[in-house]
Parts: sequence; C-alpha cells; structure tokens
Amino acid sequence: MSETMIRIEDVHKEYKVEGGKDVNALNGVDLDIRRNEFVCVVGPSGCGKTTLLNIVAGLEPFDSGRVTMHGEDIVGPGSERGVIFQQYALFPWMTVRKNIEYGMKFLKKSDGMPLYTKEEKTAKTKHYIEMVNLTGFEDSYPKALSGGMKQRVAIARGYAQNPEVLLMDEPFGALDAQTRAQLQEDLLQTWEKETKTVLFITHDVDEAVLLATRVVIMSARPGQIKEIVDITLAYPRNQATKMDPVFIQHRNYIWDTVYKMYLEVRK
Ligand SMILES: Nc1ncnc2c1ncn2[C@@H]1O[C@H](COP(=O)(O)OP(=O)(O)O)[C@@H](O)[C@H]1O
Ligand SMILES: [Mg+2]
Repeated sequence: MSETMIRIEDVHKEYKVEGGKDVNALNGVDLDIRRNEFVCVVGPSGCGKTTLLNIVAGLEPFDSGRVTMHGEDIVGPGSERGVIFQQYALFPWMTVRKNIEYGMKFLKKSDGMPLYTKEEKTAKTKHYIEMVNLTGFEDSYPKALSGGMKQRVAIARGYAQNPEVLLMDEPFGALDAQTRAQLQEDLLQTWEKETKTVLFITHDVDEAVLLATRVVIMSARPGQIKEIVDITLAYPRNQATKMDPVFIQHRNYIWDTVYKMYLEVRK
C-alpha cells in the first residue's frame, strides 16, 4: 500500500450566511489519499464536494480539523496541487500552446531558479499537446475550440504544471455525453501512462466507477463520508469496461446508496 499523501482529519466547515441560516457544509470529514490513487467523490448535489476539494486546494478556510500533505498543514494554494475546474479556466488571449506553457512559468527549483529551460518547456508543451490529442491546434485561441477541446487544454496544463496531485471538480460536467466519454478515456490513458494522484469530484456514478481506484460516497446535510468503495476493476479501462459485471455491480450499489440519500434529503 502506498504512503498517505493527503490526510483530511475531522474537518468541519460552516458557511455563515448573513441574514439567513448558516450552512453546515462539512461535519467531520476524514479521508486519506494515498500516492497514485485515483479517488472519486460522489454524492448528492450540495453535499459539500466542492467545499472539500477547495479546502484541499487551499482555496477555502475551514473551522476545525486538519488537512495535511506529507504531514504539513495545507494553508493555501500550492503548485504541488493542480486544480482543474468545471469551467475551462483558460486565458482567452493566449493560444493553446501559451496556455499550457503558462502552467510551467512559475515552477522553480529549490535554489529559486526556473525549473525548466525554454527548450524543456517547448518539449514538454509538445508532449502534453500530443497526450491530449490536440496536435495541429497549438496556435488556436480558446474561442476557436469546442468545450471538449478547451477542457483537454486545461488537463494538459494541469499535467504540465507537474503537480503531485490533480484536484478536479466535475471537469466534464458541462460536456455532452460523447465528448465526456472521450475525455474519460483520454484521462484514463493519461493516468495509466503518467500516474498521478487524482482527487476527482463528480455526481456521475458511472464516471466515478469507470475512473476510480476508490469511490468515496458523501452524504448530504451535514456533509460526511458515508462509505468508501474499493473498485476492483483492472486497468486499462475504457468505455467497454461499463459492460463488465464487476462494473455493473459497483455501479448499482453506489447508485442505490446515493439515490437513497437523495430521497431522504428531499423529504
Ligand atoms: N459561499 C457559500 N455561502 C453559503 N453557502 C454555501 C457557499 N458555498 C457553498 N454553500 C453551501 O454549502 C453546501 C455545500 O456546497 P458545495 O460544496 O458546493 O456542494 P456540492 O459541490 O456537493 O454540490 C451547499 O448547501 C451550498 O449551498
Ligand atoms: Mg460542486
């Protein structure tokens, strides 16, 4: 078993709402993320998935508990944690190549010198453009790309930043079903080739089972971890994996659990 990379211990988070009722978003969340795992978090809308990811990203303060990476408290954003959001956060005035290169711009060695030379940056950018199948679009601007292509640029930039862990919040949520299926396969291939620790939020149970080594099921109100399911399917995986009886078994079990919670919340 790999070492723990990120440890979330008894994290509580309440949003103060002026003139309204405060929202108890996370109520004692414990989770260990180990090196090279692909952890997917599923749960009903509003159960605190984004809050949890933003806390690990260092973008959101919390009230009590501890969040550490390699034993050190996470107190803010850091280049060892790359974040990929649902809305393609690309710079519209930069080409695909420049958007990806930008991810490497601020990387420094321990002596403060840039991590990569200009030549290394060019080579890496080429490598990641190929990896996400965007060869030929290096000089295109985001406005000329489809949603799926934009999200592939965001993923390439995430990888180019060379973070230890990728934090992805419903990165395929805004895409049509076919593009989504394609990007799931791209991400799987990328992860199989260049394994990285991934924390991936989705409300799509099929997506979670297809991608993850472990699926974390969150319950709503108050946000807590209800159950963690080890996905026992071998890699490589692709869309055909969805026909595997083991896939179907995991999927039905998790879907049922999430749906029951959803019905309870609606009561
Ligand atoms: N800035 C905020 N102020 C007040 N309430 C918030 C804020 N952000 C999120 N919430 C509430 O916290 C809960 C968890 O939100 P979120 O983490 O976005 O859930 P999810 O990503 O699972 O849909 C929801 O009830 C949401 O309405
Ligand atoms: Mg969310």
